[in-house]
Amino acid sequence: MKLIRKAILPVAGLGTRFLPATKAMPKEMLPVVDRPLIQHVVDEARQAGIEHFIFVTGRNKGVIEDHFDRQFELEFTLTERNRRAELDLLAHDLPGAGQTSFTRQQQPLGLGHAVWCAREIVGDEPFALLLPDVLVQAKRSCLAQMLDAYRHLPDNANVIAVEEVPADRIHMYGVVGVGQSQGRAFEITQMIEKPPRDQAPSNLIITGRYILQPEIFNILADQTRGTGGEIQITDAMIRLARKQPFYGLKFEGRSFDCGSKIGFLAANIAYALERDDIAPALRAEIKSLLG
Ligand code: G1P
Repeated sequence: MKLIRKAILPVAGLGTRFLPATKAMPKEMLPVVDRPLIQHVVDEARQAGIEHFIFVTGRNKGVIEDHFDRQFELEFTLTERNRRAELDLLAHDLPGAGQTSFTRQQQPLGLGHAVWCAREIVGDEPFALLLPDVLVQAKRSCLAQMLDAYRHLPDNANVIAVEEVPADRIHMYGVVGVGQSQGRAFEITQMIEKPPRDQAPSNLIITGRYILQPEIFNILADQTRGTGGEIQITDAMIRLARKQPFYGLKFEGRSFDCGSKIGFLAANIAYALERDDIAPALRAEIKSLLG
């Protein structure tokens, strides 16, 4: 059985698109309903069986580390007040002892560089990469769906979650070319980062969930700069694709680009509408706002 045990979560980004909210607080801690963005992404990875969470952080991101730690004062007060539900929730959300690692990206040199910063902690095994800007709302965790596909693919397979977007948004993402089907997945024939609209090989974008082989680290070690002068993960994947197969999976579910304000607000509404304790009142509010 092919296992993926470790996941990289790059959380070093400055979050300039959400200033001033992110002046003193990491963007990954912005709440979607009542859970920080990063908690939603960790939940998705845990549901896929990930055992070790590697956060690539930067300056001013200490709160993320605290979030994934116990909070004794809070637990003490909740215990005194007999708030069992809240205590259970906190305990449930917490990865186990030794299941988190934190390393720093000391300079903002790009996503590829952030991933490379985790190489020693990942070691020589395939791993998952989840970009916390993206939330995927799905019945079965997006990463779990990818692992289902991965188990039926060749040993050296790399898997990327993809989805269709309207033509006017393609240039904002990595885009893949579509080859033959392989079960629920398909062979990727081409990848390109943020292509001009007329050069995109399809309308299928890279969604921010990856299963990658450790050979990607040797390629990233070159520190070659790509689009925007940054070390791009997509460029390293293009080079790895010369030696190893890449597959795309159109996952079942809906993604929200929480790096944009509209995506973030839409995620909040969509996640709240799934909650029995919130949905009825929220529907009424939305109706009155729109009316
Ligand atoms: C990154 C990736 C891009 C992918 C996107 C998904 O871009 O480089 O291929 O489509 O995430 O959100 P970024 O959003 O960091 O510019």
